[in-house]
Amino acid sequence: MCGIIGYVGERQADHVLINGLKKLEYRGYDSSGVGIISSRTGKLVVRKIHGKIQNLEELLKKSPLDKGTIGISHTRWATHGAPNRVNSHPHADCSKKFLVVHNGIIENYQILKDQLKKRGHKFRSDTDTEVIAHMIEECYHGDFLTAFRKVISQLEGAFALGIITQMHPETLYAARVGSPLIIGVGKNENYIASDVPAILDMTDRIIYLKDGQMAAITKDKVDVFTFKGKRMRPKVDKINYSVDAVQKQGFAHFMLKEIHEQPKVFEQMIKTRIKGKKIILEGIGLTEKQIKGIDRIFIVACGTAYHAGLIGKYVIEAMTGIPVNIDVSSEFRYRDPIIDRKTLIIPISQSGETADTLAAVKEARDKGAKVISICNVVGSSLVRVSDGVLYTHAGPEIGVASTKAYVAQLGMLYLLALKLSAYHMRISSRERQKILGDFKKVPFLYRSILKTKHSVLNIAKKNSHFGCFLYLGRNVNYPSALEGALKLKEISYIPAEGYAAGEMKHGPIALIDEYRAVVCISPQSEIYEKMISNMQEIRARKGKIIAIATKGDMSIKKHANFIIYVPVIQEILSPLLVALPLQLLAYYISVQLGCDVDQPRNLAKSVTVE
Ligand code: M6R
Repeated sequence: MCGIIGYVGERQADHVLINGLKKLEYRGYDSSGVGIISSRTGKLVVRKIHGKIQNLEELLKKSPLDKGTIGISHTRWATHGAPNRVNSHPHADCSKKFLVVHNGIIENYQILKDQLKKRGHKFRSDTDTEVIAHMIEECYHGDFLTAFRKVISQLEGAFALGIITQMHPETLYAARVGSPLIIGVGKNENYIASDVPAILDMTDRIIYLKDGQMAAITKDKVDVFTFKGKRMRPKVDKINYSVDAVQKQGFAHFMLKEIHEQPKVFEQMIKTRIKGKKIILEGIGLTEKQIKGIDRIFIVACGTAYHAGLIGKYVIEAMTGIPVNIDVSSEFRYRDPIIDRKTLIIPISQSGETADTLAAVKEARDKGAKVISICNVVGSSLVRVSDGVLYTHAGPEIGVASTKAYVAQLGMLYLLALKLSAYHMRISSRERQKILGDFKKVPFLYRSILKTKHSVLNIAKKNSHFGCFLYLGRNVNYPSALEGALKLKEISYIPAEGYAAGEMKHGPIALIDEYRAVVCISPQSEIYEKMISNMQEIRARKGKIIAIATKGDMSIKKHANFIIYVPVIQEILSPLLVALPLQLLAYYISVQLGCDVDQPRNLAKSVTVE
């Protein structure tokens, strides 16, 4: 969840590090720090501060670092210890010779810390990370890698580490177990980072450090080893997206930019995945025989990806008749689910680094299931443990609130359902072609929705004062209601609940009065009339209704206070369209309230700890 960047080369390290850190801020932003080795004294020098990177920049202006061409830095999302200066990274040992930045959690840190304290080590912070610096101090007898290996062998949990030491002032050390870490390969300079955007404007040549690997990196050499000491020959990949993809490009926020990228994301998906009447799911890793043999599907995911998965359940079951179970990953991993070799597991994750989803996959694999992941990040940890992968290729998503990755996940689930439906037939081939035909219209329909965004802005202005929102939907749009509520609460901090509209009378109706706003997702559908009944019940209790309805639906005016229209589309595909107004509504309300849209409090983009 935290962001790491390290540098070794010929330039002033802290300048490079701050530049990279700013691009990683979406990973965590409660405090930050930078440490370099001074070229003048040969000693470690550190600056740390509470709050965003901007605070660190200002600190460095007031109190500049010495010249130094090697360094590490970190933006933190607190796990152990409050978000303050002392707990921010880097952390040093007693002798201040070793400096560590860390992403992840050291689960056995308390035992290690108690032992180290007994042996006389003095701790400054409440973090789990600091134990690593003290352990290296104890184990180091002239050979860093030997000490590093010894320390790592005692650590339990997930971690990505970046370390510098004045004992070896030309080498940047790194290791990973669980948490992601990449090495950027430059000319007379090299980098480590927790994510590609940090270094993309400096190099597009990347080594994905694998689990259980460590590296010793100088300005012109990268040596990679297993934890057992075996030298590995690392593969250098070329990143195929540009710096523009990780910049706002004139939009006020990344979230707004990413909302506007959705037509293109879909266009790209259609271009690469649909050839005439055929769906190409390259990467799926299943033979025709295996596809025919699937008798149950399990979807596991968290947050927004879970909501995409819920819609996937409706869609796959409707088109194929294959029973689909879905769990949030954190429940799946601990509840001993019934899985066998005929079960297909579909984990869904934008980042591919979500700790709970990775653990759920491990659980499923141990039981013999096949794993086909739906993922956005090439080379991520999830992809590495899957039998097949359906990349969503939505491009880097920087806003903490997931938008384009969500619709790309939905798109992929529709295509998968359509593909499976050729072998597990619950719909006729005419129906399949009709769905496919309408699916191809989505980019055009997205553009038309985005053209009406000002009407959503007006509705947001008139409703941002409500202290509580309820989102209601039915059938395939019940998960849309959950997603709409999640979007609003995470970026505006307004309590928002998503419900199946049919459940309203079983509890949530008690919330409704003139102080609540209710978003009713009511596009044309077979159960449209049921939604209208719900709306009447809300009006009778003076609740304010924002309806999302199908263009041309005039009768809804009688029932709703505000209406956002989406274009006509068949019901099964409607979650794809209603997603956009829900995102825009949440976005504009957040802006109205002056919230930090892209970096909402307490959240981080990828949740790499349990
Ligand atoms: O990277 P993942 O898709 O696995 O992340 C899952 C959730 O953490 C994520 O969707 C989260 O709920 C977003 N902040 C929602 O906007």
